[in-house]
Amino acid sequence: MSIKGFSILPCLLLVCSFCSGKAMPTKLSQEAVNDRPVIGVLTQLVSDDVMKPFGRTYIPSSYVKYIESGGSRVMPIRLTLTTAEYENIFKKINGLFFIGGAANLETSDFARVAQIFYRLALAANDAGDFFPIWGTCMGMQLLTVLVAGENLLTNTTAENVALPLNLTEEALSSRMFQGFPQDLIKALTQEPLTGNFHHYGVTVKNFQENVKLTSFFSILSTNEAENGAHFVSTVEGKKYPFYGVQWHPEVNRFQWDSKLNFPHSLHAVQLSSKLAEFFVNEGRKSLHTFDDPEEEVSSLIYTYMPIYAGNFTSYEQIYFF
Ligand SMILES: *[C@@H]1O[C@H](CO)[C@@H](O)[C@H](O)[C@H]1NC(C)=O
Ligand SMILES: *[C@@H]1O[C@H](CO)[C@@H](O)[C@H](O)[C@H]1NC(C)=O
Ligand SMILES: *[C@@H]1O[C@H](CO)[C@@H](O)[C@H](O)[C@H]1NC(C)=O
Repeated sequence: MSIKGFSILPCLLLVCSFCSGKAMPTKLSQEAVNDRPVIGVLTQLVSDDVMKPFGRTYIPSSYVKYIESGGSRVMPIRLTLTTAEYENIFKKINGLFFIGGAANLETSDFARVAQIFYRLALAANDAGDFFPIWGTCMGMQLLTVLVAGENLLTNTTAENVALPLNLTEEALSSRMFQGFPQDLIKALTQEPLTGNFHHYGVTVKNFQENVKLTSFFSILSTNEAENGAHFVSTVEGKKYPFYGVQWHPEVNRFQWDSKLNFPHSLHAVQLSSKLAEFFVNEGRKSLHTFDDPEEEVSSLIYTYMPIYAGNFTSYEQIYFF
């Protein structure tokens, strides 16, 4: 696991009664909700030698369980498809999740595919077609590269350390932490609930000096790296439903390597649950859908088998592709 709303515009559903000829569209007064969301997860490039015998790309099952725990299904997205194929997938999924790992954030296939989806998501949201994106650890680093159009990462090593978050003023009015009970917010700022496993990040200074980042994202939390640098640890899109955490909420419930500082306290578990539920609920606001039920079934993660990986990685189980 090395490392590397629209103030939310309600998505009003316009249905035309019978959709025939001159029928006037009927405006439903409630927000459209999709209770069968599918979140796409880009597979990650294998960089670790011990994993190479099993495949070229992978998804740790901890991320899959995390997303499923929020009430969503997961679709793994390979890095070998054409742009047209990604455009087609985009119309079917209800959100996208960039996981952690170690890949070049500008030249790798992971970065190339992420950029295709990022552009599609920007255009969709601009057109009122709600589509959320989440980035964890390297996934958040990738979001900063996509938004800034350049790589602003520097050494902000916080490797195998659990930290409380230094929440900003904006966190208190954020969407991400909106549904948190007061005691959990308090715990989040006082207890080491966030597992950090990274070498790079965006310092608060680099972030604040980049107008593309400051106009796009609100900083919800910061932390201090081993070298004393203050780095941005949680962000939320000001206009777009895009979210990033430099830490790993999925480990709190789904990773157990005792050599690593995975927070497993009740508050740590609650934090992880709340954020998974939050992001999946963002996915429920997306009305993208598969037209073909058979294609839907065969696209989901369920047809793949994870392998036991607890004896050669810090993950318990991994899907290889
Ligand atoms: C915590 O936040 C305060 C106020 O925003 C800031 O002055 C301080 O540098 C932050 N500390 C870290 C470790 O980021
Ligand atoms: C980053 O900083 C840490 C802590 O100061 C140091 O131990 C590490 O070697 C540095 N890593 C890189 C890649 O420069
Ligand atoms: C890990 O455990 C599995 C299942 O017991 C076993 O098949 C595999 O050879 C082990 N791998 C290593 C690298 O020890």
